Amino acid sequence: MKAKEIIKNIIDDFDRSCAAVTSSEEWNEVRVRFLGKKSAVTALMKQLKEASPEEKKALGKAINDTKAYMERCLEEKKKEAGRDEQKKLPDWSLPGRGQIPGKVHPLTTVRCQMEDIFIRMGFDIKQGPEMETAWHCFDALNIPETHPSRDEQDTFYLNKKNMVLRTHTSPVQIRTMLEQKPPIYMIAPGRVYRNDVLDASHSPVFHQVEALAVDEKITFGDLKGVIYAFLTELFGPQVKTRFDNSFFPFTEPSAEVYMSCFCGGKGCSVCKGSGWLEIGGAGMVDPEVFRAVNIDPERWSGFAFGFGLERMAMLMYGVPDIRYFYENDLRMLKTI
Ligand code: DAH
Repeated sequence: MKAKEIIKNIIDDFDRSCAAVTSSEEWNEVRVRFLGKKSAVTALMKQLKEASPEEKKALGKAINDTKAYMERCLEEKKKEAGRDEQKKLPDWSLPGRGQIPGKVHPLTTVRCQMEDIFIRMGFDIKQGPEMETAWHCFDALNIPETHPSRDEQDTFYLNKKNMVLRTHTSPVQIRTMLEQKPPIYMIAPGRVYRNDVLDASHSPVFHQVEALAVDEKITFGDLKGVIYAFLTELFGPQVKTRFDNSFFPFTEPSAEVYMSCFCGGKGCSVCKGSGWLEIGGAGMVDPEVFRAVNIDPERWSGFAFGFGLERMAMLMYGVPDIRYFYENDLRMLKTI
Protein backbone atom coordinates (compact mmCIF):
# COMPACT_ATOMS: atom_id res chain seq x y z
CA MET A 1 0.00 0.00 0.00
CA LYS A 2 1.24 3.41 -0.89
CA ALA A 3 2.17 5.80 1.94
CA LYS A 4 -0.53 8.29 0.79
CA GLU A 5 -3.24 5.68 1.15
CA ILE A 6 -1.93 4.55 4.51
CA ILE A 7 -2.05 8.14 5.76
CA LYS A 8 -5.63 8.57 4.50
CA ASN A 9 -6.68 5.40 6.33
CA ILE A 10 -4.94 6.56 9.49
CA ILE A 11 -6.73 9.92 9.33
CA ASP A 12 -10.13 8.31 8.68
CA ASP A 13 -9.63 5.99 11.62
CA PHE A 14 -8.43 8.85 13.81
CA ASP A 15 -11.41 11.05 12.89
CA ARG A 16 -13.86 8.29 13.81
CA SER A 17 -12.10 7.50 17.09
CA CYS A 18 -11.70 11.12 18.07
CA ALA A 19 -15.38 11.88 17.40
CA ALA A 20 -16.40 8.96 19.65
CA VAL A 21 -14.40 10.23 22.65
CA THR A 22 -16.63 10.94 25.70
CA SER A 23 -14.21 10.88 28.63
CA SER A 24 -10.65 11.89 29.46
CA GLU A 25 -9.61 8.20 29.58
CA GLU A 26 -10.91 7.65 26.07
CA TRP A 27 -9.22 10.85 24.96
CA ASN A 28 -5.90 9.61 26.33
CA GLU A 29 -6.32 6.22 24.65
CA VAL A 30 -6.85 7.88 21.28
CA ARG A 31 -3.80 10.10 21.79
CA VAL A 32 -1.54 7.14 22.62
CA ARG A 33 -2.96 5.04 19.81
CA PHE A 34 -2.42 7.67 17.11
CA LEU A 35 0.58 9.66 18.35
CA GLY A 36 2.36 7.28 20.75
CA LYS A 37 5.50 5.24 20.12
CA LYS A 38 3.59 2.27 18.78
CA SER A 39 1.31 4.27 16.55
CA ALA A 40 0.90 3.86 12.82
CA VAL A 41 2.43 7.29 12.32
CA THR A 42 5.59 6.29 14.23
CA ALA A 43 5.76 3.16 12.08
CA LEU A 44 5.55 5.32 8.97
CA MET A 45 8.40 7.47 10.24
CA LYS A 46 10.54 4.39 10.43
CA GLN A 47 9.78 3.70 6.75
CA LEU A 48 11.19 7.12 5.93
CA LYS A 49 14.70 5.83 6.38
CA GLU A 50 14.35 3.53 3.40
CA ALA A 51 12.77 6.08 1.09
CA SER A 52 14.53 7.95 -1.74
CA PRO A 53 15.48 11.61 -1.08
CA GLU A 54 12.43 12.99 -3.04
CA GLU A 55 10.06 10.53 -1.42
CA LYS A 56 11.57 11.38 1.94
CA LYS A 57 10.71 15.03 1.51
CA ALA A 58 7.10 14.46 0.42
CA LEU A 59 6.41 11.71 2.95
CA GLY A 60 8.09 13.66 5.76
CA LYS A 61 5.83 16.62 5.12
CA ALA A 62 2.72 14.40 4.90
CA ILE A 63 3.59 12.71 8.19
CA ASN A 64 4.23 16.05 9.95
CA ASP A 65 0.97 17.51 8.61
CA THR A 66 -0.91 14.43 9.80
CA LYS A 67 0.62 14.68 13.28
CA ALA A 68 -0.13 18.39 13.45
CA TYR A 69 -3.73 17.75 12.33
CA MET A 70 -4.25 15.05 14.96
CA GLU A 71 -2.74 17.21 17.67
CA ARG A 72 -5.06 20.09 16.73
CA CYS A 73 -8.09 17.81 16.76
CA LEU A 74 -7.17 16.35 20.14
CA GLU A 75 -6.60 19.81 21.60
CA GLU A 76 -9.99 20.92 20.30
CA LYS A 77 -11.62 17.81 21.76
CA LYS A 78 -10.01 18.50 25.13
CA LYS A 79 -11.41 22.04 25.23
CA GLU A 80 -14.84 20.76 24.29
CA ALA A 81 -14.75 18.18 27.08
CA GLY A 82 -13.55 20.87 29.46
CA ARG A 83 -16.52 23.03 28.55
CA ASP A 84 -18.95 20.14 29.11
CA GLU A 85 -17.25 19.35 32.37
CA GLN A 86 -17.58 22.97 33.49
CA LYS A 87 -21.26 22.98 32.73
CA LYS A 88 -21.74 20.38 35.44
CA LEU A 89 -19.92 22.49 38.04
CA PRO A 90 -21.49 25.52 39.69
CA ASP A 91 -20.32 28.76 38.12
CA TRP A 92 -18.72 30.52 41.07
CA SER A 93 -18.38 33.74 39.10
CA LEU A 94 -22.16 34.17 38.82
CA PRO A 95 -23.59 36.97 40.95
CA GLY A 96 -25.32 35.62 44.08
CA ARG A 97 -29.04 35.48 44.44
CA GLY A 98 -28.70 38.10 47.13
CA GLN A 99 -31.01 38.96 49.96
CA ILE A 100 -33.80 41.46 49.58
CA PRO A 101 -33.32 43.75 52.55
CA GLY A 102 -36.40 44.50 54.60
CA LYS A 103 -37.90 47.95 54.36
CA VAL A 104 -39.94 50.14 56.63
CA HIS A 105 -43.63 50.13 55.69
CA PRO A 106 -44.78 53.47 54.22
CA LEU A 107 -47.34 53.92 57.01
CA THR A 108 -44.57 53.51 59.58
CA THR A 109 -42.36 55.98 57.70
CA VAL A 110 -45.08 58.63 57.73
CA ARG A 111 -45.92 57.96 61.38
CA CYS A 112 -42.26 58.37 62.36
CA GLN A 113 -41.98 61.59 60.36
CA MET A 114 -45.09 62.95 62.09
CA GLU A 115 -43.79 61.91 65.50
CA ASP A 116 -40.45 63.63 64.82
CA ILE A 117 -42.14 66.89 63.92
CA PHE A 118 -44.36 66.89 67.03
CA ILE A 119 -41.53 65.86 69.32
CA ARG A 120 -39.55 68.86 68.06
CA MET A 121 -42.55 71.06 68.93
CA GLY A 122 -42.52 69.70 72.50
CA PHE A 123 -45.26 67.05 72.28
CA ASP A 124 -45.07 63.62 73.97
CA ILE A 125 -46.06 60.38 72.24
CA LYS A 126 -48.87 58.53 74.04
CA GLN A 127 -50.53 55.20 73.52
CA GLY A 128 -53.84 53.71 74.57
CA PRO A 129 -55.52 50.31 74.27
CA GLU A 130 -57.28 49.29 71.07
CA MET A 131 -59.84 47.44 73.20
CA GLU A 132 -61.42 50.39 74.94
CA THR A 133 -64.24 51.06 77.35
CA ALA A 134 -67.30 52.76 75.90
CA TRP A 135 -66.80 55.41 78.57
CA HIS A 136 -63.31 56.43 77.33
CA CYS A 137 -64.29 56.09 73.70
CA PHE A 138 -67.62 57.91 73.88
CA ASP A 139 -69.10 59.15 77.19
CA ALA A 140 -66.06 61.05 78.44
CA LEU A 141 -65.77 62.64 75.01
CA ASN A 142 -69.29 63.99 75.29
CA ILE A 143 -70.62 61.49 72.77
CA PRO A 144 -74.00 60.51 74.22
CA GLU A 145 -75.61 57.09 73.99
CA THR A 146 -77.86 58.38 71.22
CA HIS A 147 -75.02 59.59 68.99
CA PRO A 148 -74.98 57.88 65.57
CA SER A 149 -71.25 56.99 65.85
CA ARG A 150 -72.15 54.66 68.72
CA ASP A 151 -74.46 52.75 66.45
CA GLU A 152 -73.64 49.09 66.09
CA GLN A 153 -73.22 49.67 62.39
CA ASP A 154 -70.14 51.84 63.05
CA THR A 155 -68.74 50.42 66.27
CA PHE A 156 -67.43 46.93 66.85
CA TYR A 157 -68.86 46.03 70.25
CA LEU A 158 -67.05 43.32 72.15
CA ASN A 159 -68.77 40.58 74.10
CA LYS A 160 -67.54 42.03 77.35
CA LYS A 161 -69.96 44.59 78.69
CA ASN A 162 -69.19 48.18 77.68
CA MET A 163 -66.06 47.27 75.74
CA VAL A 164 -65.49 48.32 72.14
CA LEU A 165 -62.71 48.34 69.58
CA ARG A 166 -61.83 52.02 69.66
CA THR A 167 -63.38 53.88 66.73
CA HIS A 168 -60.89 56.76 67.02
CA THR A 169 -57.73 57.72 68.92
CA SER A 170 -59.54 60.44 70.89
CA PRO A 171 -59.92 58.21 74.02
CA VAL A 172 -56.14 58.58 74.44
CA GLN A 173 -56.86 62.25 75.19
CA ILE A 174 -59.07 61.12 78.07
CA ARG A 175 -56.53 58.61 79.40
CA THR A 176 -53.74 61.19 79.29
CA MET A 177 -55.81 63.86 81.04
CA LEU A 178 -56.76 61.37 83.76
CA GLU A 179 -53.13 60.40 84.19
CA GLN A 180 -51.41 63.77 84.24
CA LYS A 181 -52.17 67.34 85.14
CA PRO A 182 -51.91 70.16 82.57
CA PRO A 183 -49.93 71.52 80.85
CA ILE A 184 -50.30 68.62 78.41
CA TYR A 185 -48.85 68.41 74.92
CA MET A 186 -49.30 64.98 73.40
CA ILE A 187 -49.95 63.08 70.22
CA ALA A 188 -51.26 59.53 69.97
CA PRO A 189 -50.79 57.60 66.75
CA GLY A 190 -52.64 54.32 66.60
CA ARG A 191 -54.93 51.79 65.04
CA VAL A 192 -58.68 52.28 65.02
CA TYR A 193 -61.63 50.14 63.96
CA ARG A 194 -64.92 50.87 62.26
CA ASN A 195 -67.55 48.56 60.94
CA ASP A 196 -67.13 50.10 57.51
CA VAL A 197 -66.90 48.97 53.92
CA LEU A 198 -63.54 48.18 52.35
CA ASP A 199 -63.04 50.27 49.24
CA ALA A 200 -60.46 52.62 47.71
CA SER A 201 -60.84 55.16 50.52
CA HIS A 202 -62.27 53.15 53.46
CA SER A 203 -60.94 50.33 55.55
CA PRO A 204 -62.47 48.76 58.70
CA VAL A 205 -59.01 49.02 60.30
CA PHE A 206 -56.98 52.16 59.78
CA HIS A 207 -54.77 54.59 61.68
CA GLN A 208 -55.18 58.03 63.17
CA VAL A 209 -52.88 60.52 64.81
CA GLU A 210 -54.52 62.36 67.66
CA ALA A 211 -53.15 65.58 69.15
CA LEU A 212 -54.02 67.37 72.37
CA ALA A 213 -52.63 70.53 73.92
CA VAL A 214 -53.93 71.75 77.28
CA ASP A 215 -52.48 74.84 78.92
CA GLU A 216 -53.47 78.25 80.21
CA LYS A 217 -54.74 80.54 77.47
CA ILE A 218 -54.55 78.10 74.58
CA THR A 219 -56.43 79.63 71.65
CA PHE A 220 -57.73 78.64 68.25
CA GLY A 221 -54.76 80.60 66.88
CA ASP A 222 -52.42 78.10 68.57
CA LEU A 223 -54.32 75.28 66.94
CA LYS A 224 -53.99 76.88 63.50
CA GLY A 225 -50.31 77.67 64.05
CA VAL A 226 -49.40 74.13 65.15
CA ILE A 227 -51.29 72.53 62.27
CA TYR A 228 -49.71 74.93 59.79
CA ALA A 229 -46.21 74.29 61.19
CA PHE A 230 -46.80 70.56 61.10
CA LEU A 231 -48.12 70.45 57.52
CA THR A 232 -45.39 72.69 56.11
CA GLU A 233 -42.75 70.55 57.82
CA LEU A 234 -44.27 67.39 56.39
CA PHE A 235 -45.20 68.51 52.89
CA GLY A 236 -43.16 71.68 52.26
CA PRO A 237 -43.42 75.45 52.58
CA GLN A 238 -45.86 75.83 49.68
CA VAL A 239 -48.69 74.24 51.71
CA LYS A 240 -51.62 76.44 52.69
CA THR A 241 -54.28 75.50 55.24
CA ARG A 242 -57.99 76.17 55.40
CA PHE A 243 -60.41 75.64 58.31
CA ASP A 244 -64.08 75.05 57.67
CA ASN A 245 -66.67 75.04 60.42
CA SER A 246 -67.82 71.64 61.56
CA PHE A 247 -69.15 69.78 64.59
CA PHE A 248 -67.62 67.24 66.94
CA PRO A 249 -69.16 66.50 70.36
CA PHE A 250 -65.77 66.84 72.08
CA THR A 251 -64.68 70.19 70.61
CA GLU A 252 -66.31 73.60 70.52
CA PRO A 253 -65.82 75.29 68.13
CA SER A 254 -64.91 72.50 65.72
CA ALA A 255 -63.31 72.62 62.32
CA GLU A 256 -62.59 70.51 59.31
CA VAL A 257 -58.95 70.93 58.29
CA TYR A 258 -57.94 71.26 54.67
CA MET A 259 -54.57 71.71 53.03
CA SER A 260 -53.88 73.03 49.55
CA CYS A 261 -53.59 70.31 46.93
CA PHE A 262 -50.29 69.45 45.22
CA CYS A 263 -51.75 70.77 41.97
CA GLY A 264 -51.21 74.20 43.47
CA GLY A 265 -54.90 74.92 43.73
CA LYS A 266 -55.59 74.64 40.00
CA GLY A 267 -57.77 71.59 40.57
CA CYS A 268 -56.90 67.98 39.70
CA SER A 269 -58.30 64.45 40.08
CA VAL A 270 -56.87 64.08 43.64
CA CYS A 271 -58.69 67.16 44.97
CA LYS A 272 -61.60 66.58 42.57
CA GLY A 273 -61.11 70.03 41.10
CA SER A 274 -61.46 71.90 44.39
CA GLY A 275 -57.77 72.64 45.02
CA TRP A 276 -58.18 71.50 48.67
CA LEU A 277 -57.66 68.18 50.46
CA GLU A 278 -59.48 67.30 53.68
CA ILE A 279 -57.09 65.84 56.21
CA GLY A 280 -59.00 65.65 59.49
CA GLY A 281 -60.98 67.24 62.27
CA ALA A 282 -59.94 69.73 64.94
CA GLY A 283 -61.26 72.11 67.54
CA MET A 284 -61.05 73.60 71.02
CA VAL A 285 -61.57 71.04 73.78
CA ASP A 286 -65.21 71.18 74.93
CA PRO A 287 -65.60 72.16 78.62
CA GLU A 288 -67.72 69.03 79.07
CA VAL A 289 -64.66 66.91 78.26
CA PHE A 290 -62.55 68.78 80.81
CA ARG A 291 -65.24 68.20 83.42
CA ALA A 292 -65.27 64.45 82.70
CA VAL A 293 -61.57 64.26 83.60
CA ASN A 294 -61.64 66.76 86.46
CA ILE A 295 -59.76 69.56 84.78
CA ASP A 296 -61.06 73.03 85.54
CA PRO A 297 -62.32 74.56 82.26
CA GLU A 298 -62.21 78.02 83.80
CA ARG A 299 -58.46 77.81 84.22
CA TRP A 300 -57.37 75.54 81.38
CA SER A 301 -58.14 75.56 77.69
CA GLY A 302 -56.97 73.26 74.95
CA PHE A 303 -57.06 72.27 71.34
CA ALA A 304 -57.25 68.83 69.77
CA PHE A 305 -57.13 67.35 66.33
CA GLY A 306 -57.22 63.97 64.66
CA PHE A 307 -55.75 63.16 61.26
CA GLY A 308 -55.95 59.96 59.24
CA LEU A 309 -52.52 58.39 58.85
CA GLU A 310 -53.39 56.52 55.64
CA ARG A 311 -54.76 59.74 54.20
CA MET A 312 -51.44 61.47 54.91
CA ALA A 313 -49.45 58.61 53.40
CA MET A 314 -51.70 58.50 50.32
CA LEU A 315 -51.13 62.22 49.76
CA MET A 316 -47.42 61.98 50.42
CA TYR A 317 -46.77 59.07 48.06
CA GLY A 318 -49.59 59.55 45.58
CA VAL A 319 -51.17 56.20 46.52
CA PRO A 320 -54.65 56.10 44.95
CA ASP A 321 -56.12 53.20 46.95
CA ILE A 322 -56.01 52.61 50.73
CA ARG A 323 -56.02 48.83 50.22
CA TYR A 324 -52.50 48.99 48.72
CA PHE A 325 -51.15 49.62 52.24
CA TYR A 326 -52.38 46.28 53.54
CA GLU A 327 -51.82 43.95 50.60
CA ASN A 328 -48.04 43.87 50.99
CA ASP A 329 -47.51 43.73 47.26
CA LEU A 330 -43.75 44.12 46.86
CA ARG A 331 -44.20 46.10 43.64
CA MET A 332 -45.96 48.79 45.67
CA LEU A 333 -43.77 48.59 48.78
CA LYS A 334 -40.54 48.77 46.75
CA THR A 335 -41.45 51.95 44.92
CA ILE A 336 -42.08 53.91 48.10
N1 DAH B 1 -62.06 61.61 66.54
C1 DAH B 1 -62.51 62.20 65.29
C2 DAH B 1 -62.89 61.11 64.31
O1 DAH B 1 -62.41 60.04 64.42
C3 DAH B 1 -61.45 63.07 64.70
C4 DAH B 1 -61.22 64.28 65.51
C5 DAH B 1 -61.90 65.42 65.29
C6 DAH B 1 -60.28 64.27 66.53
C7 DAH B 1 -61.71 66.58 66.02
C8 DAH B 1 -60.08 65.38 67.32
C9 DAH B 1 -60.81 66.54 67.04
O2 DAH B 1 -59.19 65.43 68.30
O3 DAH B 1 -60.59 67.66 67.80
O4 DAH B 1 -63.62 61.36 63.41
